[in-house]
Amino acid sequence: SRPQPCTVVIFGATGDLTHRKLVPALYNLAVDGELPHGVKIVGFARRDKADDEFRAGLEELNRKVSRSGHDDELWGNFVQSITYHRSEFTDADGYQRLSERLDEIDRECGGKGNRLFYIASAPDFFDDILENLKAAGLNKASDGCWARVIVEKPFGTDLATARHLNEVVSRTFEERDTFRIDHYLGKETAQNLMVLRFANSIFEPLWNNRYIDQIQITCAENLGMEGGRGGYYDTAGALRDMVQNHLLQLMSLVAMEPPTDLSADGVRDEKVKVIRSLRQWDTPEKVAKNVVRGQYQAGYVDGESVPGYREEDRVDPESMTEAYVALRLMVDTWRWSGVPFYIRMGKRLPKKATEISVHFKSPPSVLFNTQGSSAAESNVLVIRIQPDEGISLRTVSKIPGTSMRLEPVKMDFRYATSFGKGSPEAYERLLLDAMAGDATLFARRDEVEEAWKFIDHIEHAWHESEEPPVMAEFVAGTWGPKEADDLLREDGHAWRRL
Ligand code: BG6
Repeated sequence: SRPQPCTVVIFGATGDLTHRKLVPALYNLAVDGELPHGVKIVGFARRDKADDEFRAGLEELNRKVSRSGHDDELWGNFVQSITYHRSEFTDADGYQRLSERLDEIDRECGGKGNRLFYIASAPDFFDDILENLKAAGLNKASDGCWARVIVEKPFGTDLATARHLNEVVSRTFEERDTFRIDHYLGKETAQNLMVLRFANSIFEPLWNNRYIDQIQITCAENLGMEGGRGGYYDTAGALRDMVQNHLLQLMSLVAMEPPTDLSADGVRDEKVKVIRSLRQWDTPEKVAKNVVRGQYQAGYVDGESVPGYREEDRVDPESMTEAYVALRLMVDTWRWSGVPFYIRMGKRLPKKATEISVHFKSPPSVLFNTQGSSAAESNVLVIRIQPDEGISLRTVSKIPGTSMRLEPVKMDFRYATSFGKGSPEAYERLLLDAMAGDATLFARRDEVEEAWKFIDHIEHAWHESEEPPVMAEFVAGTWGPKEADDLLREDGHAWRRL
């Protein structure tokens, strides 16, 4: 179905996410004519603010980050749909007033009464917000309308808290009205993974342990703990912040079986099987063998000197939180038996780049002598999630000349050249999907819980075992600790160079 008009209520409206992502996404949808006519936005937060002040703050950020630039006239029209609602998240009365306010908006603007609640506050308030929505009756829609909720990350900090949150959510909204956001699923290149695999006949027959040697997922960031981020990050770490959600989601799209259809449950049934099939690293020994955690030390990134992780603003000087993690994952299914999946994620690496590389087995080496040369690893399919979105396929070719010498060459597809116009931001697609009631690109309850189950063992080994595995170190602006290289070397592999 199509996205329907509604009022979007954003909890945590004075926060960074609202300013940098959510409102610019809604603005760009409006500019592209994709936003259903009559969408209203209410920002809900604790700080005292007039509508004008709230709008001015949003405008300032939109000018900086909007994908399509900032047009004064278009913004002027768009911003009329935004108002501010001041309330504590814990104050029942604030939700009563919100309810009256939403009815009023519907009366004034001829809205039908559809509501999309976007919970983007600090995670401590998720429960309170849900309970209060329920107490005010806002979780129930009037006849012929809907009330839906989008829950931002972090969805819990371990299995127990995620289960608890799922309980609270399910007491308040039906699963079909619940949208657990993972913005990586909204990225154009992530959506294209299923198309690449299932709409092309050349890859799927090879997509298994007979032809694939190993798969790598790298998510590199050059940023550190700017803008006070250290306060949150130091309580989370790379594994919880990125692997539990974004990277396991990407991996499940790469590894899943073909779904029977593209319905939300069709796709999610297959994805959850992948996560459920992960071999569990459930002892400190297994964790030490398969997972590397690290912190950066002072160094240079983009030519500028940067502090080490423990010297960052709002980070504990004796912190044992990882800002880098590398893992070997084994998916115990028929298709993937014996194929390692390697995942690495780090802050303060040399650049920002996320990619998936599929390394095919080498052909028998009887004909050409490629031993030890760069042509030894013949075929690699690289899916660039971001930036410079695209896909490249490495093949081996003869170097023109009178002797038989081989070298890898690359066939390259770039979104920018093939499609010209830029892709929408992940949040644009996901907001529209929620307005249309399509949860395909949102995480289901069981996926989130299965992922936490896997992550919990590792966190446990790190923080609660008698002899916790070491915290590896690397210099900021380099490609991670040498322990992560050793992890692959044990299997006769090496990280792909980006
Ligand atoms: C967020 C994490 O979910 O994703 C951040 O909390 C991370 O730490 C960000 O930087 C990365 O998102 P993107 O879209 O910039 O790759």
